[in-house]
Amino acid sequence: MEIVRTATGLEEMLQRFRLQEQTIGFVPTMGALHEGHATLVRQCAAENDVCVVSIFVNPTQFNNKEDLKHYPRTAEEDHTLLERTGADIIFAPSEEEIYPEPDKRVFDFGMLDKVMEGQFRPGHFNGVAQVVSKLFSFVRPDKAYFGEKDFQQLAIVREMVRQLELSVEIVGVPIVREADGLAMSSRNQRLSEEEKKNAAEIYRVLQESTRLSDDLTPGQLTDFVIGEINNVRGLNVEYFEIVDGNTLQLISSLEKSDFSVGCIAVFCGEVRLIDNIRYN
Ligand code: PAJ
Repeated sequence: MEIVRTATGLEEMLQRFRLQEQTIGFVPTMGALHEGHATLVRQCAAENDVCVVSIFVNPTQFNNKEDLKHYPRTAEEDHTLLERTGADIIFAPSEEEIYPEPDKRVFDFGMLDKVMEGQFRPGHFNGVAQVVSKLFSFVRPDKAYFGEKDFQQLAIVREMVRQLELSVEIVGVPIVREADGLAMSSRNQRLSEEEKKNAAEIYRVLQESTRLSDDLTPGQLTDFVIGEINNVRGLNVEYFEIVDGNTLQLISSLEKSDFSVGCIAVFCGEVRLIDNIRYN
């Protein structure tokens, strides 16, 4: 496994693979890696000749300076995990390497970035699109892997690829969970043991709502989920919406869509967690 910190270094390293027409798979991350990331990396390594993983805590996608400051940085552990999971190249650039000058690009994703995360984290997805488009231009992958945990991010990356007419195939990977159901996240490190226990209720309630979905409307399911989760001590729902998985627009009836997804953001103490579940 090689670690490279510059775009030119990366290009040199990838050149020999490109010449041999080997396929390049790519997993962008912000580090603080866990089993969720490891699953993406394993799939990437299995499906491509070369597996590139980037580690870059992207400042432009943090709408909250404190969140950026607190973001865990665990380079040593990350390298060990990546070695173990079959990554070939780690691309870990500095901020100057990615943003030698401020990125002024403004993307237009229509309604996709106006709802849910977009509503509560203004500018977040523009920052994601800035960094992912730059990383794609350096790595030029055949396939790139994104977790379904960040459901809206996946939809936006697909839309960005469509708009920029990139030839990369975007692969969505199912959510990896702790044994108790909590979706794995770098932010879970900030939860106390008690908070972790409370946070597991999020997925329990989401699952319960899928069992009720034959009998309840999306509106009723929404009230159920928000009510149940807010009843747990220390949990505070920011939003829960049942949307069409392609348009991310609210749906009035589960029969109207063959791809409906409930997306949630919950504060567990100070830590903001997201999760989602598919209804049909
Ligand atoms: P990060 O939060 O580090 O996540 C990197 C990738 O891992 C994302 O595609 C995310 O959806 C996926 N992932 C995280 N937890 C997961 C889980 N429990 N199950 C499945 N996949 C999971 O997402 C980002 O970084 C950034 O926004 C990035 C795309 C790197 C751009 O900066």
